[in-house]
This record gives sequence, structure tokens and C-alpha cells, in this order.
Amino acid sequence: MAAASTVVSKVFTKDELCALERAPAPCGIVIFGASGDLAHRKLFPALFSLVLDHLMPKDFYVIGVGRTSLTDVAFQSGVRQALGTVGTAEERAEFISHLTYLSGEYHLEATYAALGKRLAGLDEVHQTHGCHIFYLATPPALYEVIVGLLGSSGLAAARSSRACTRLVVEKPFGHDLSSARDLNVAIRRVFQEDQIYRIDHYLGKETVQNILMFRFANAIYEPVWNEKYIDHVQITAAESDGVEHRAGYYEQAGVLRDMFQNHLLQLLCLVAMEPPASFDADAVRNEKSKVMTAVSFPSADRLGQDVIRGQYGAGEIEREAAPAYRNEPGVHPNSFTETFAALRMEIDNWRWHGVPFYLRSGKRLPKRVTEIAVQFRRVPTSIFKSLVVEELSPNVLHFRIQPNEGISLRLEAKHPGPKVCLSSVTMHFDYTEAFGVTPPEAYARLFLDVMLGDQTLFARQDWLEHSWKLLDPLLQYEKDVQETGLRSYPAGSWGPPEADALLAREGRQWLTR
Ligand code: BG6
Repeated sequence: MAAASTVVSKVFTKDELCALERAPAPCGIVIFGASGDLAHRKLFPALFSLVLDHLMPKDFYVIGVGRTSLTDVAFQSGVRQALGTVGTAEERAEFISHLTYLSGEYHLEATYAALGKRLAGLDEVHQTHGCHIFYLATPPALYEVIVGLLGSSGLAAARSSRACTRLVVEKPFGHDLSSARDLNVAIRRVFQEDQIYRIDHYLGKETVQNILMFRFANAIYEPVWNEKYIDHVQITAAESDGVEHRAGYYEQAGVLRDMFQNHLLQLLCLVAMEPPASFDADAVRNEKSKVMTAVSFPSADRLGQDVIRGQYGAGEIEREAAPAYRNEPGVHPNSFTETFAALRMEIDNWRWHGVPFYLRSGKRLPKRVTEIAVQFRRVPTSIFKSLVVEELSPNVLHFRIQPNEGISLRLEAKHPGPKVCLSSVTMHFDYTEAFGVTPPEAYARLFLDVMLGDQTLFARQDWLEHSWKLLDPLLQYEKDVQETGLRSYPAGSWGPPEADALLAREGRQWLTR
């Protein structure tokens, strides 16, 4: 009999693991859509924060590509403005010296020929060995064109044995199952799955990553993390902002595509997944995909009851008047786009059988808060005479994703004194208080992982397809009942009253307020 092979992998102490260098190799970063909003609000500040934290490679360069005609100097000054007062003037100037700009039409070969020349020149200077990251931050309609031309121009091909080429794709990845598949086919003609980084910026948030640490680095939760002890789970992503200047995109998307298909379903998977065998990209992503196969969204005959859609009307937020969605710039005056949705769903496996998951997200709600609330079952009976069991509040574990990031547990406790008086108290871990820092920007972490070639926090194609498979029937239903199924809610409220009724009919209520 053959001797069993022994795999010895290196293990570390906590401190050693923490001190492990995460140093990416020198690389060139090409941002398509560099003169746009996302690049200025998120991408350049994220790269700069990595510089300040000494996490960037020892040499790198950034080429911004855009249709707007700009000189390098004008581009750099726009980025400088976007950085605000973060860091010192010297640090900002040093960062900006790594940036250049290339203006060109995305569908013209000439743009890619010019890009190729620029890359070759900068590779020489920065010793990047042809390691390139192509970041698609353009409107999604341009993704296929850009990827196709990256392929045909030869820019996607590795230039040396040390070269690495990666593609980062911003959401939305498709607008339904078939378009997501088509986009994937187009990308896969040029890039391999292990070169593709599909961004869901929620996965880069510290508190989202912490869900896995919390669940799998503490022994006390796993035994109670199932239908025997958990009554239900709520996931809320509320925003007080309206559609802002993004009506062009949002009118086509609505909250189901914008928040549910990606962020909310990713949160759901982190709460519901089985322990992965390791913290490797594939092990984690396999478990998330397994959850998606067990998710049972409301069936056709339940859609009317279990999916609530709303659109904000005029109202008030923090004492300021807010216009109705239909009066926002760029929005059709008879728009049926939903800006709020709440739904009830289940996960049909041994762990979660019969446990409802309620998901809710909307714009123009009273405040910005993203939270997961895991409500445990009540105690079976009250031993406190004359106190009915319903009076004992069930324990609730809150994962506060943002703001005031932290985790808290609601418990019942005794009031001091001789009488039997009970009330709910909270045990709280506050991220900033515990670690003395505010959580870093999600995009910084995600950029770093792309440079390091770590795909753990990025969506894999099979996961994406599962998410669209779940969403497609909802979107079809939405089309069928677009007028009658859409409820209005005043800006500044928690959505239409039907969203409260969704829980109330089962004797529950939304815990995030
Ligand atoms: C984006 C959506 O993906 O997430 C936006 O397109 C939404 O509509 C945003 O406002 C919310 O992100 P965050 O990090 O502010 O919760």
C-alpha cells in the first residue's frame, strides 16, 4: 500500500500572521473611465491611502484612460482635488507624479495602440515586468468593447514569464442572467477566470470581512448557528441619499439590481455559508455558491405577498425637504423604477430550513445604516412567575456594517434591587473604540488584493449566475405589475407600510430603525 503523503503547510502565531508582509510586485494600473466620478470619488483616494499605509508596490504607475481630452497636468490636478487634504502636500505630490492620462475613444484601435506604447515606455522606467491591471470603471455598456480591443491589440497577453495581467470589472455585471452570461463569454475570450476580479465593494468593507472572522474564529457561535436556535435573520441596507446624479443608470437598474443582486446577497451568503475548509479564495467562494443553490426566493404565487417594492415620494430628511424620485433630475416623470424593496426568502438546507431571511434596502430612508440582525429563538418557558414568556425579549446579534461599525448582542438582565425586574441590555464591540482606527475604505483593500492576486473577496462567475437566476423572476414580475405593484413612501420614512406588514404578519418587526 502506498504511504499516505503528508502535506506540511506553514502555520503562524497570530502576531506572525498579522506581521506577514503583503507586498505586491511592481505593476502598471490602467483605469478606463479615469475622468469619471467613481475614479475620483473612490479609486484614486483608495490608491493614495495604500501609499500612505506603505502597502503599494515599491514602484508603480497609473494610466488614466478617458474620452475627455485632458493634459497630464489637468488630469493630475483633478486627482489632487479628489484627494482633498488627506496626507501632506509632499505625499500627494509624490503620488500624483505616478499618474499619466491618455485620452481616446474606447472603440478605436488607435487608443489601444497608443496605450500599448505608453505601457511599454512606463514598464521600462518602473521595472514592472509587464504586470498590468486593467480596471473597467466606465459605463458597463463599454465593457465588451474595451475587453475585445484589449485582446485584439495584444495588450491582454502576458509579455514575459514574470508578467501578470488582471482585469477588474465594476458592477453591474450584466442586467439579467442572459446579459451576465454574454458579458462573461466576451471576457473569457480574452481573460481566464483567475485573471478576472468582479468587484462588489461591500466585500472590501472591514465589518463585512469580520463576519467570517466572527463566525469561524470563535467557537461559541457555530453550535447555535442554525434553525434550532435562530428565529430569523434581517439584512437592512438603508440610505438617506436619493438617486443623486445617477438617474441615467438607476432608472434602468432599480434597487433590486443595484443592491440586492450583489451586496445584499453577498451579505446573506456570509451569514449563511458553511465553514469553508480554509480561508482560500476557492474554498470560501465554493461555500458561498452552495448557499446560493439552496436559496429559495419567493415562488411565483408568493411574489405579491413576499416582495414589496416602493418608490420615494416627496418628504423630509433631517428637517430638509427632499423631492420625489420622479422629480429628480434625469428621472422620467412616470418612472416605475423601484427605489425600495423588502423581501422574505428562505434557505432550503439542513442548517436553515424554515428560518426566514428578510432583506430590505432603499434610498431616501431616514438614515444611512447597513446592519444584519440575527434574532435567536425565545426561551422555551418563563421561570419567573407572573412573567409571560413573550415578555422576555429574544437575544439579537447585530452586525453593524456601517456607520458606527461594530457587533452587539442584546441580552436580558436583572435590574439592581430586591424585585424581579428585567430589561434588555446590550453588550457591544465598537470597531473604532477597540482598535483605535476607523475602518479603511473598501476599495483600498480590494485594490491591494487585485495587486496580490487574491480573489477571495471578488465574485466568481458561478455565484453571479446564481444571483441573476434568483433575481430574474422577480424582475419579470416587476415588469408585469410595474404600476400596481409599486407603493409610494415619503422620503424620510422606512418605506411603504407593506414592508412592516411583511414581518408583522408573522409576529415580527424590523429591528433596524
Ligand atoms: C453602490 C450602489 O453599489 O452602493 C449605490 O450602486 C449605493 O446606489 C452604494 O448608494 C452604497 O454603498 P455604500 O458603501 O455607501 O453603502
